[in-house]
Amino acid sequence: MEKIIDGEKLNIPEHVAIIMDGNGRWAKKRLMPRNFGHKAGAKTVEQICEDAHDLGIKYLTVYAFSTENWKRSVEEVTGIMNLLRNYLVDCIERASKNNMRVRIIGDRTALDKDIVEKIEELEEKTAYCDGLNFTIALNYGGRDEIRRAVTKIAEDTRSGKLLESNIDESLISSYLDTRNMPDPDLLIRTSGELRLSNYLIWQLAYTEFYFTDVLWPDFSIKDLEDAIRYFNGRDRRYGGVK
Ligand code: IPE
Ligand code: IPE
Ligand code: MG
Repeated sequence: MEKIIDGEKLNIPEHVAIIMDGNGRWAKKRLMPRNFGHKAGAKTVEQICEDAHDLGIKYLTVYAFSTENWKRSVEEVTGIMNLLRNYLVDCIERASKNNMRVRIIGDRTALDKDIVEKIEELEEKTAYCDGLNFTIALNYGGRDEIRRAVTKIAEDTRSGKLLESNIDESLISSYLDTRNMPDPDLLIRTSGELRLSNYLIWQLAYTEFYFTDVLWPDFSIKDLEDAIRYFNGRDRRYGGVK
């Protein structure tokens, strides 16, 4: 899809993935506790969902909590989980208003029961929405996702549901949490870190990467447009020659 932004015709990526990083540093700069940054970051997510939809992005996938983030203090983890509880409830209302379909990826088994119930309700209530496909990665790790997929493939092979000869790349993709979603076209990481931190490691194989020093709570539509402009300057060859 194409869109005119600031007088320039731009190709809009179908799927944008974001590593929302820098909440802690944003709070620290203001001499506030880290959870103050997470709260501000949650507000930014709401705005960016609307902006992404307005720009014509079809899939937006954000990294909210990694399988490694449990290493943080109990206070911070509890704060993030409580913020998430509120966010999920608000999201049910907002999603139906914006016609947004919400999905959560990651390992739910480690989440509190009430959070899992809220997730199920949110997914069920937005299942028929055909606006923005918004996916939140929660207790998500790319290696953990592949581990869970491999376990399931092994089970299905043992039970005869699957033949070993059927195991190709698209079958593996279909066992991942992101089944039914195209791979991301553009990855954005905020806060100046140049690493993946275990995000969508299978799916990002041919994605274009955009890094910015902006801290996540300060990320705005202008920054999203800058990322899209950068994306438009890339030549995606997929291993071929152009
Ligand atoms: C990203 O911000 C949010 C989560 C990982 C939950 P950080 O909390 O990592 O912020 P910094 O990187 O410490 O500034
Ligand atoms: C990645 O950020 C995870 C999320 C944004 C949820 P981190 O802040 O946890 O990553 P590292 O520790 O800098 O690699
Ligand atoms: Mg960080």
